[in-house]
Amino acid sequence: MNAQKRIAHLCGFVDEDRLWRRHMELAQIGALPSGGVNRQALSAEDIDARHLLIGWARMRGYRIETDAIANLYIRRAGRYDDRPTVATGSHIDTQPLGGRFDGAYGVLAGIEVLESLDDAGIETDHPITVVAWTNEEGSRFAPGAMGSLIFSGLRRVDEFSANADAEGTTLSAALKSTLDAMDTDRQLDTRPTFKAYIEAHIEQGPVLEARRIDIGAVTGIQGTRWFEVEVNGRSAHAGTTPMSKRADAITAAIDIMTDLRRIAEDPEDRLRFTMGRVDVVPNSPNTIPEQVRFTIDMRHPEQQVLEDRTRAIVARCTGPSGGCRVSIREVLTQPPCDFPEAIVARVENAANALPASCMRLPSGAFHDALFVARICPTGMIFVPCRDGISHNPTEYAEPAHLAAGARVLAATLVGLAEKDA
Ligand code: GLV
Ligand code: MN
Ligand code: MN
Repeated sequence: MNAQKRIAHLCGFVDEDRLWRRHMELAQIGALPSGGVNRQALSAEDIDARHLLIGWARMRGYRIETDAIANLYIRRAGRYDDRPTVATGSHIDTQPLGGRFDGAYGVLAGIEVLESLDDAGIETDHPITVVAWTNEEGSRFAPGAMGSLIFSGLRRVDEFSANADAEGTTLSAALKSTLDAMDTDRQLDTRPTFKAYIEAHIEQGPVLEARRIDIGAVTGIQGTRWFEVEVNGRSAHAGTTPMSKRADAITAAIDIMTDLRRIAEDPEDRLRFTMGRVDVVPNSPNTIPEQVRFTIDMRHPEQQVLEDRTRAIVARCTGPSGGCRVSIREVLTQPPCDFPEAIVARVENAANALPASCMRLPSGAFHDALFVARICPTGMIFVPCRDGISHNPTEYAEPAHLAAGARVLAATLVGLAEKDA
């Protein structure tokens, strides 16, 4: 069978119903009454979800491995099995009020490809590995994309071990429970070598749906900066302390936030600026707050813009303000990244051959692919999601779009897994 016929044969085995059922089954773990999912990184729900994936992988005889940050690798052997693996995947942790598809899709589409290869009787030259990266969302333990960040070698696990969640559980304790609970074949001491990495994901934005296009060939990911700001004042009685004698952390924080909104103004509407979490101590109606901590998430496709705005933000969040002491800490810095043209073209060609409508577009969200791109040729495949909504329990993607994306993923991975590709 020539390569083209082999891929058409394989795509015939990608099973839309199986892929949809798996999404619904996974979404039961951490299910919210609103229809969404709360399955935060390294939680009991995350562990249950890992068991489910491992169970599916065991039924097919795939090799199951993990590493020091509990990334989960599900590996289907290749004809030349010692060659670098072609990899795919995403994450199964969710936001606290998350949806059923953000992350889960990339992992389940990867498993669907492995099973379709089995069902189609196709042996690839290189092995193919599906990865469920640990803690992509970063909502329980900052920073996000922790598993792929450590995999890329940019940071080490021990740098994050003491990070605690809102209940005071440390990353190292949660990591230990997860690693102890997982039934794997081995724990990797060194990073597996990837030949290439392709991640499938819902778009999480409105472009594909608005243009009625089935597949996005992702050209790159915009840059991200995360900060934590701390405002320290003095707690005192709300009824007795004159306004002139206060060091009120929340009043100072409101002034700072208002100035930050101004710093983040962008007439082109390309800068993304979010202050998504505010913690107030002691958070009592009749005590003047002594401390406010809040987060900043800033994104832009151009590095220079990120650097200019960062300077202004840091200047505003350092030193005294409104009788309080203010400090800022940068917790995630990621420059914008462009995927290699050869990989974008492969995705586009795979969509055209299917055929499925396809356009090129950049990613506004960050993904594990951003960090994996540091170590091997990397690309992404987007499928539309309803009203472009994500990080929301109502997040929805059509079964047919999920299956089309999985077919494009299958074709792209199989092409890359050929000996001479
Ligand atoms: C990923 O979840 C992001 O925040 O872009
Ligand atoms: Mn995601
Ligand atoms: Mn997300």
